[in-house]
Amino acid sequence: HRVVVVGAGHVGMITAMKLAEANIIEEVVLVDIADGLAAGIALDLTHSTALLGFDTKVRGVTQVADAGVADYVVITAGRARQPGMSRTDLVEVNAGIVGGLAREAAAVSPGTVLLIVTNPLDEMTHHAWQASGLPAERVIGMAGVLDSSRFQALTGLAARSAPSDVSALALGSHGDEMVIPLSQARVAGKAIDQALPQGEVTALVDRARNSGAEVVGLLKSGSAFFAPGASAARMVLAMATDSGEVIAATVHARGEYGIREGYVGLPAKLGRGGLREIVELPLAEDELAAVRTAATRISERVADLQQ
Ligand code: NAI
Repeated sequence: HRVVVVGAGHVGMITAMKLAEANIIEEVVLVDIADGLAAGIALDLTHSTALLGFDTKVRGVTQVADAGVADYVVITAGRARQPGMSRTDLVEVNAGIVGGLAREAAAVSPGTVLLIVTNPLDEMTHHAWQASGLPAERVIGMAGVLDSSRFQALTGLAARSAPSDVSALALGSHGDEMVIPLSQARVAGKAIDQALPQGEVTALVDRARNSGAEVVGLLKSGSAFFAPGASAARMVLAMATDSGEVIAATVHARGEYGIREGYVGLPAKLGRGGLREIVELPLAEDELAAVRTAATRISERVADLQQ
């Protein structure tokens, strides 16, 4: 496989590193408009191959057209949040960047799967789908893997369990309408309310929802990148290995969960060709309503963007 990672900034760099270190992708190509940035990071990463024992080739270029035909294109290019900014504040500038890159990527690699990372995530995923002309199964957004991972990490610490013993899926939007259906969450195989009091769980969901802003506030410049980069790589690896595992992904619903049509975070099986299927879990009534509200809000924001 060849994976092209567009944007060799904080998130793109970690995505490329995690993909290369997994040692199952033949080539990772970084693309960044900033002269020398992608090439420099690619060379630096290549210097770690002997040390860490991976064979993945890493290359850096300034144009998507020079990256070659890709099986997967991860788009992380664009502006990141600064303190006091919401993800939505990024919409106009990033729509221009993401739309152009999605179009270019689809022209170079008509068979590719696009994985969108740039914020505001839900709107950018929809926009990339429209700009690229690719089928919706091949345009997916990264949000739920990260939001789930944040909740798992925080819950693991609170419940004194290994984070990997916590299972939960973050659905809905990447932002205020993020929903963690607690009916589906488990700690060491047990319902979450057996591990922690309900008030504490609610506070953990809120903290997970606001974790991006918490990191931005601490860093004071730029936004989170370790967990985001690892999350994007994880999604590419799930597709490249045709894993079929159920993960949270921003995908195009057509009737599932009673959502008429549009992008929203849902449980999904990913495979070599992108979205294999949306998995319908038996959510509680209020959880289902919250996911549907998220889908409606995303559609409204997409409509605003198109005006
Ligand atoms: P960054 O500023 O470190 O990197 C962005 C890179 O994009 C820069 O190196 C810039 O030169 C490059 N770029 C801009 N226009 C380009 C173009 N037309 N072609 C190629 N490269 C171009 O930003 P960072 O921290 O890597 O964040 C990237 C994006 O990912 C932001 O929009 C951020 O909000 C988003 N993000 C999304 C997350 C998610 O959960 N979906 C989590 C974390 C970040």
